[in-house]
Amino acid sequence: MYVDTWDYLSRVKDKFLLKLGDCVDGMRQLDAQSVDVVVTSPPYNLGIDYSSYNDDKSHLEYLEWCAEWAAGIELQNTIHWIKSISIEKDAETKSYGHFKPINSNRFLNDCHEYVFHFTQSGSTKLDRLAIGVPYADKSNIDRWSHTNGKDKRCRGNTWFIPYKTIHQRAKQRPHPATFPTELAVKCIRLHGRKNSVVVDPFLGIGHSAFAAKECADMVSRFTGFDIDEEYLKVASDILGCGYSKVYQKTT
Ligand SMILES: C[S@@+](CC[C@H](N)C(=O)[O-])C[C@H]1O[C@@H](n2cnc3c(N)ncnc32)[C@H](O)[C@@H]1O
Repeated sequence: MYVDTWDYLSRVKDKFLLKLGDCVDGMRQLDAQSVDVVVTSPPYNLGIDYSSYNDDKSHLEYLEWCAEWAAGIELQNTIHWIKSISIEKDAETKSYGHFKPINSNRFLNDCHEYVFHFTQSGSTKLDRLAIGVPYADKSNIDRWSHTNGKDKRCRGNTWFIPYKTIHQRAKQRPHPATFPTELAVKCIRLHGRKNSVVVDPFLGIGHSAFAAKECADMVSRFTGFDIDEEYLKVASDILGCGYSKVYQKTT
């Protein structure tokens, strides 16, 4: 479904606002200090075959473009998103998750991605236990006072989150570079603010929006942008909401 700009503006209190157009233009129209959490994966200039975006800019052009949508932020955490892992235990090796095999005699298969956690000052307080895990050794619960008697510890910065198994990519995941909803759920929960406003400047087919929906107890509003109508339509169909064009100023 497509709705026009004025219709969109009148519905600005809707929980999910999906906007077709350039995120830099779109984000300029957001009020200052109106966003709590941004969860996103931008294009990385790796020559990915997006349906309309050209992911093959010159290095300089790409860096200049990045500076337009990300400035004045500090790296607070580096998280390793593990997509696939093989674990040797009791003389047995078991493999978990999925990866795209690389046909090479130089490079190893790429089974992980970095998740960079940026904040404005580098010292934002997090709710680490919101995505915590139980202690493997339960004796730690009584041994350490900081546990407060609870069987939960910080998960750390290695997150094993496999892609869901799919059988028909064109139907089930019609986008070449997605992250799983669970990855965005963890980012939102870790931030820990109630009634938060979440934004994804590069929405793709909407996994950050699906995560915002899963975190309904924490998220009051979600706004997502993408320049590609094909992708935005997938997200809006799944969410059952409309989408509108980013408002363009006329000169
Ligand atoms: C890595 S993908 C995001 C995928 C998304 N995380 C998901 O799981 O579906 C990056 C997206 O950025 C979009 N894009 C590229 N340039 C854009 C721009 N200037 N404004 C908004 N979206 C843009 C592309 O169309 C692409 O869908």
